[in-house]
Amino acid sequence: MEEKTITPVRSIQGTVQVPGDKSISHRALILASLANGSCTLRGLSGAGDVLSTIDCLKSLGVSITKRSGVVVVKGKGKYGYKKPKKALNAANSGTTIRLLSGVLAAQPFVCEIDGDESLRNRPMRRIIEPLESMGAHIESAGYKAPLKIFGGPLHAIDYASTVASAQVKSCVLLAGLYAKGSTRVSEPAPTRDHTERMLEVFGAKIGGAQNVVCVQGPAELTPTDIDVPGDLSAAAFFLVAACLLPESNITIKNVGINPSRIGILDALTAMGGRVERTEVSNLNKEPRCTLTAVHSRLTAANFGGSMIPTIIDEIPILAIAATQAHGNTIIRDAGELRVKESDRLAAVAQNLLAMGAQIKETRDGLVITGPTPLHGAEIDSFGDHRIAMSFTIAGLLAAGETVIKGSECVRISFPGFFDSLEKVCVA
Ligand code: S3P
Repeated sequence: MEEKTITPVRSIQGTVQVPGDKSISHRALILASLANGSCTLRGLSGAGDVLSTIDCLKSLGVSITKRSGVVVVKGKGKYGYKKPKKALNAANSGTTIRLLSGVLAAQPFVCEIDGDESLRNRPMRRIIEPLESMGAHIESAGYKAPLKIFGGPLHAIDYASTVASAQVKSCVLLAGLYAKGSTRVSEPAPTRDHTERMLEVFGAKIGGAQNVVCVQGPAELTPTDIDVPGDLSAAAFFLVAACLLPESNITIKNVGINPSRIGILDALTAMGGRVERTEVSNLNKEPRCTLTAVHSRLTAANFGGSMIPTIIDEIPILAIAATQAHGNTIIRDAGELRVKESDRLAAVAQNLLAMGAQIKETRDGLVITGPTPLHGAEIDSFGDHRIAMSFTIAGLLAAGETVIKGSECVRISFPGFFDSLEKVCVA
């Protein structure tokens, strides 16, 4: 296990490049693999989770090659996968196992998909139930990975998901590509809609309203080139650092600003953070822009309800921001954080308490009182990339040394994180 020692800095200044959006990268690879021909993917993330999707697709017989910065996927059509020789390995990636399961459920072969210890602890009943009601059969121990998927002909369903999860929605929509008729998914609150947008770009018929989406099957996917914007979830660490450190000024170009993902921009703005969007454009139905953030005086705010899915991966870094905001920041309705790569509510509370913050963990959220000066501490990343990166930012403001244990996990979403950060730090 690696560890990284973080010492305080005065400010961060300059330009940062973030990896391609992880969610969009997974979808681009999967949809391209199902298209009837070759697709060129630009700006694809090189993160560990995305490599897991590539690895699984290669095991299914899909040719994926990298040439001068672009990735070429030779789509094999919806039934072109070959039965893999051994279990697919999704490693740490929830998106890989849940989205691919939707496709595997329709294949004319039996296939096993597994992951690392963290993934084996994450809930899979949420995808097993809808896929079984579409006609697949899935064996598991206690609805956890490894999953043994007995694929076959599927029929369309009208599925009311009880969790606000884009992975569940996407899994059912991908299975719906194989079913005759309209496969419909409703969810308790709208979640990221990258799958729907990209399916449309690939020529599928998508419909729906606010909390409901449907796909018309059977659908054929037309080969399409995709340009992946930068990952706002990766940019968030730099935006928050710039808001918190005096004299900071940071610019990040070409960042995805899909409305279902921009909760962190809304949250920082609500707290008084000065984050600006310029050079807005739109490609492949995914808006993007340049983001600039400067040092700001933050005040506390409340976050809950339907806003939570739009900020789900940014809550750990938002909690760091809240320690420096004036007043009580209350985060509620975020119980899903307990079933991410780690129990993120517990991980944030434990580590922030160790750094001297005033924080209380609730059943489904956090209450943080600020501003409180932080001091260095030994931080347990729990092998969770977003915890490791959030507490690296906390370490930049803390007095003394902060040691991030298990820091190598940042590669799961942002392999160059520490180098990118070092380049903009001003001592
Ligand atoms: C993702 C959806 C979210 C998010 C995850 C990526 C996706 O998970 O936390 O990092 O790409 O669809 P849930 O769907 O489980 O909320």
